[in-house]
Amino acid sequence: MIIAVDGPAASGKGTISKGLAELYNLPHLDTGLLYRAVGYAMLDKLEDDNFENLAIDTAKTINLKNLDAELLGTPEVAYAASKVAKIENVRSALRQFQIDFAKQKTGAILDGRDIGTKICPNADVKFYITATPQIRAKRRTLQLLEKGLDVKESDILAQIIARDESDKTNPAGNFYKSQNAHLLDSSLLDIEGALRKAKTIVDEVMARQAG
Ligand code: C5P
Repeated sequence: MIIAVDGPAASGKGTISKGLAELYNLPHLDTGLLYRAVGYAMLDKLEDDNFENLAIDTAKTINLKNLDAELLGTPEVAYAASKVAKIENVRSALRQFQIDFAKQKTGAILDGRDIGTKICPNADVKFYITATPQIRAKRRTLQLLEKGLDVKESDILAQIIARDESDKTNPAGNFYKSQNAHLLDSSLLDIEGALRKAKTIVDEVMARQAG
């Protein structure tokens, strides 16, 4: 069983993916962490003339050991991630890693921006998770405050809107809802409700496949 979960920043896709991974005992890859790991390594080189080539070289070295969610969870790293995510050769360096992760015998769940469109177009189940920018900003602010970061909701909302725009206009990305993805709006449902709905859909697909 391969499950692809896409959606914008702080939509709840990570929480829903973790929940599904636990329910179905599937290995889970948060693919945003791959881009964040490259962004993190590039933090002091954002204005470097050789930025693109350095980011591509870094992307070729990324592996699971680089993916410290705690370290990579800051707004500065998110900004750098969305910058490196625009470089096609960074994307292609990270693509095979994601495809290999999805090929595991156990099956897998991957969340990101282009999982259903580009990385796993034949996934058994696809979800597109969304929520209003205001609700996403509220959630992300709470998460960051819990981590002890000093952040303001109005700043986080501005960053989320800027990142949405940057992602939407990413010429190297395929950041749209795959045609056969199930749309879950977590502003209407809340995360637990969205997870329950996602589980119902996965159970239906499993039952269909089994019989
Ligand atoms: O999901 P997360 O907020 O951690 O992603 C950080 C950034 O990485 C996104 O804003 C996006 O620019 C990039 N990204 C991407 N493709 C993915 C996952 C993330 O381009 N599959």
